[in-house]
Amino acid sequence: MITQTNHKETFRFIPTTSMEVPPERVAALLKSEWELFTKQTGKSAQESKRSVKSMPLGVTSSFQHWDPYPISIVSANGAWMKDVDGRQLLDLSMGFGAMLAGHLNPTVIAEVKDALETGMLFVTPSPSTTDAAERICRRFSIDQVRFTNSGTESTMYATRTARAATGKDAIVKVEGGYHGSYDPFVVSAKPPVDQIGQASDPIAYVPAGIVPGEIYVVPYNDADALQRCFERNSSKIACFIVEPVIENLGIILPDEGYLERVRELCDEYDIVLIFDEVKTGLTAGHRGAAQRLGVVPDLITLAKSIGGGLTLAAFGGKKKYMDFVTSGKMAHFGTFNGNPLAMAGVRAVDKICTQEALAGAQAFNQQALDRISEIIEQYQLPAHTVGFGIKGCITWSTTPLRNYRDYKATDFAIAELSWLWSINRGIITPPGLDEQWLISLAHGQREIDILVEDFHEFAKALRA
Ligand SMILES: Cc1ncc(COP(=O)(O)O)c(C=O)c1O
Repeated sequence: MITQTNHKETFRFIPTTSMEVPPERVAALLKSEWELFTKQTGKSAQESKRSVKSMPLGVTSSFQHWDPYPISIVSANGAWMKDVDGRQLLDLSMGFGAMLAGHLNPTVIAEVKDALETGMLFVTPSPSTTDAAERICRRFSIDQVRFTNSGTESTMYATRTARAATGKDAIVKVEGGYHGSYDPFVVSAKPPVDQIGQASDPIAYVPAGIVPGEIYVVPYNDADALQRCFERNSSKIACFIVEPVIENLGIILPDEGYLERVRELCDEYDIVLIFDEVKTGLTAGHRGAAQRLGVVPDLITLAKSIGGGLTLAAFGGKKKYMDFVTSGKMAHFGTFNGNPLAMAGVRAVDKICTQEALAGAQAFNQQALDRISEIIEQYQLPAHTVGFGIKGCITWSTTPLRNYRDYKATDFAIAELSWLWSINRGIITPPGLDEQWLISLAHGQREIDILVEDFHEFAKALRA
């Protein structure tokens, strides 16, 4: 097995040999697995029939939906959830990373209960907000922070801060990159490959109903393409927003030196560098991805993992940029920003997510990746594993992915089958084939064994 570590702190295993899984085998298994799915989830089907009457698709975020209907959950504790059909499900999605501390983590509950004793919403300054801000600044090595309620708000405000600071409007983003549902970020989030031009010089794809403003799209891991874009348009570009490790296309690692070159180019062309750490954040390590990878952005956006499951997000960074919030040149408002319950979440997570605790979760993740890689090798599957921090994924390709076009060339039929196979055996990975598993602080050896053994059974079924 070839182990490639193409950037410090990241890991990827490529098998030495592989054989195709016949498409007809995949198609036959998909058919029988969908039949099994409907057989096992009758109450989720009923629940869906009821919920579609009051909500489009029966869900409150379109990501939660899949055809014919998603599983409906009644409770969650630790690393486990229970669905309306009474099945215990191992949660490896963990709220896209928001449940890093585990469901109903006792420290989170204790801090929230304490907060409830003293008030739910002040909408004025409070020591609890300052305490949370100090914790975030210390941990992520940033000068200042402002709290918001979602990752989408945070990326929107970070962009607006960059616009205020530079007096320029245009945004550069990565093809296939997702930064929330603010209009410019929906551009080329998952564009159809036949409508986006050359890989090295992509055309921005604007879905219906989106008013994007001026936006340029570049391939990830291509500093030359970024430089060409900056050269042509630097007088108009306010910022480049990028996930330091792409975690909305499985996991795509930065090439050696890529982020360092991005930093240099942003400095050279006077363009604000925003690292979107909504997904990486504490799942990358106890001080986030930027610290771990050693490249300092101008602004970062945070959400999900920093709040213990409460509704919380943030943006922040260097004082010289946050000064535009101070001066009022960048408008930032919000009734629920920094509310005491969310601040309790920050306090709890800061206490729980020690370097040791996250290193323990990472060791479990590494173990899962190693064991799954051995199974891939043993069964000569056309796949490889990728990991970063406490996240991992199986990518159905024998070559490493460097960008969106590579991702689109992977085998989506086996990816769907692998996800469905696990769902049918009580293991939840996120809806969508572009996600990854998360080993939270509530996962232990038992959960890792379940994940690995389930994959082993799947490998046997593919080769049967
Ligand atoms: C990288 C990234 N940025 C921003 C967002 C938006 O966050 P939210 O769903 O909290 O609005 C997401 C959501 O998944 C994300 O993955």
